[in-house]
Amino acid sequence: MSSDPTKTEAWHALAAHADEMRQAHLRDLFSADAERGTRLAAQAADLYVDYSKNRVTDETIRLLLALAMERGLAERTTAMFAGEHINTSEDRAVLHTALRLPRDASLVVDGQDVVADVHAVLDKMAAFANRVRSGQWHGHTGRPITTVVNIGIGGSDLGPVMAYEALRAYLDTDIRCRFVSNIDPTDVYEKTRDLDPATTLFVIVSKTFTTLETLTNAAEARRWLLDGLAASGASDDGGASGAAVDGASAAVDDGAVAKHFVAVSTNAEKVKAFGIDTENMFGFWDWVGGRYSYDSAVGLSLMLAIGPERFTEMLAGFHAMDEHFRTAPLDRNVPALLGLLNVWYDNFLGAQTHAVLPYSQYLHRFPAYLQQLTMESNGKSVRADGTEVRYQTGEIYWGEPGTNGQHAFYQLIHQGTKLIPADFIGFCAPNHEIGDMHDLFMSNFFAQTAALAFGRTADEVAADGTPADVVAHKVMPGNHPTTSILAPKLTPATLGQLVALYEHIVFTEGTIWGIDSFDQWGVELGKTMAKQLAPLLTRADGAQPPIGQPDQDSSTTELITRYRAAARGH
Ligand code: F6P
Repeated sequence: MSSDPTKTEAWHALAAHADEMRQAHLRDLFSADAERGTRLAAQAADLYVDYSKNRVTDETIRLLLALAMERGLAERTTAMFAGEHINTSEDRAVLHTALRLPRDASLVVDGQDVVADVHAVLDKMAAFANRVRSGQWHGHTGRPITTVVNIGIGGSDLGPVMAYEALRAYLDTDIRCRFVSNIDPTDVYEKTRDLDPATTLFVIVSKTFTTLETLTNAAEARRWLLDGLAASGASDDGGASGAAVDGASAAVDDGAVAKHFVAVSTNAEKVKAFGIDTENMFGFWDWVGGRYSYDSAVGLSLMLAIGPERFTEMLAGFHAMDEHFRTAPLDRNVPALLGLLNVWYDNFLGAQTHAVLPYSQYLHRFPAYLQQLTMESNGKSVRADGTEVRYQTGEIYWGEPGTNGQHAFYQLIHQGTKLIPADFIGFCAPNHEIGDMHDLFMSNFFAQTAALAFGRTADEVAADGTPADVVAHKVMPGNHPTTSILAPKLTPATLGQLVALYEHIVFTEGTIWGIDSFDQWGVELGKTMAKQLAPLLTRADGAQPPIGQPDQDSSTTELITRYRAAARGH
């Protein structure tokens, strides 16, 4: 098989078919087929997914499925679930699906019993979470933990914070979480300034334990904790925490750190070097990508908040979607179908972006979470074999919860010039029953998807008595594609299903495009350059850049010069 999807028969056929479909309107597709709204829909675990309001016909779907077959989607899916090293540029297995295998499943990869490893960590997390939640685990002064501060970035932040926000209705103790990610000092300052060190637990999450943002924030958190405890008389090092002066105060520091810091990482050595006892470390494995990791120990803060049972329900939700993806026939396989639809819009109808519009305020961080999942995974311009792609990959994901988005950017989706496929995610039952508010809320969901699809013609607008010179402004062209994802209720299980759905959509697209969706080399250069530039910003001697950087460009040099001058002026 060529690594280039454009060489397949199905790709050629889709390109020809797209010429016809550019003229098709959803109004006509629906009026020609009374069953369309029920036929172009499928069930995946608890999710009912209606893709009938997409710009497709049965022929489009047939050709997309043919493309999936020509690209070996089924075989590659089997390879992923079996732990083959499909992350070729890093020579790693891709096994986030193993994180949610039930205890009695079996999977041996590279000679290792993966299921046993996963459940050993889950058990350790549960034991720890139960101790913290019950108040059995207490801080250095003997008081129970009331606030968990998760420090991590990227996959070590976005998943935990998204899920914590999504599952707020399931918080069942007084423990609350906060999330520090940005190296902007305001982040750690704002998240800690009103906290009591005596009742605060820091969970430092970093797969590599080398990430500058996380280690810098963790070091600041350590200083804040030890100084705070010392100031309140809880520690006797007189605030000299950053540089413990004798053995006694160092021991006090270590004791306090042991009570208030735990780590989640794959890198025990670095955790130890930072000063966290590896007894208080929760591990995971190099076969879990950062953006695929919040259902591993990376979700420890979430487990502390909602408890091990709810966390287990969430894992079962993930697993239900995994099983659907692994076993459902392609023409009923929801992640595969949605991934193929994305390919259709990106590569054949010219879409650049994809909106995600959750009709749940609890899912307000879901679009941000999906941005890393989708864009870090599929923002690639070479294929897995290193050859250059000459077609679009990796659409730009964005969105906001409805109905806020309606009053902000929906205008452009309704009447603008861009093609923006959109996923509407809604729930039949609310997490909080307040009068008929939820019905009112969901009527917006249904109204928007219908308005986007069918619009309003000039005749319809004129028939309302609209003045002739205003008619054109009120015409709603319609034909804007949407997919409706309807779940019974936002629960840990349905959240797991939703996340796994998108994970497998990403995988499907990456497979069609022939790219490695599991590496992220593109983020490395900026990190390296920031480390090189940092001394130019922090040097006290006033030396002007470039320093040891003969090829520093004139723009960056000028910006840094101005920054230094202004910063010193404060
Ligand atoms: O910079 C990108 C990245 O490597 C992400 O892939 C990852 O989720 C994030 O940084 C954080 O990495 P770590 O968990 O190793 O600190």
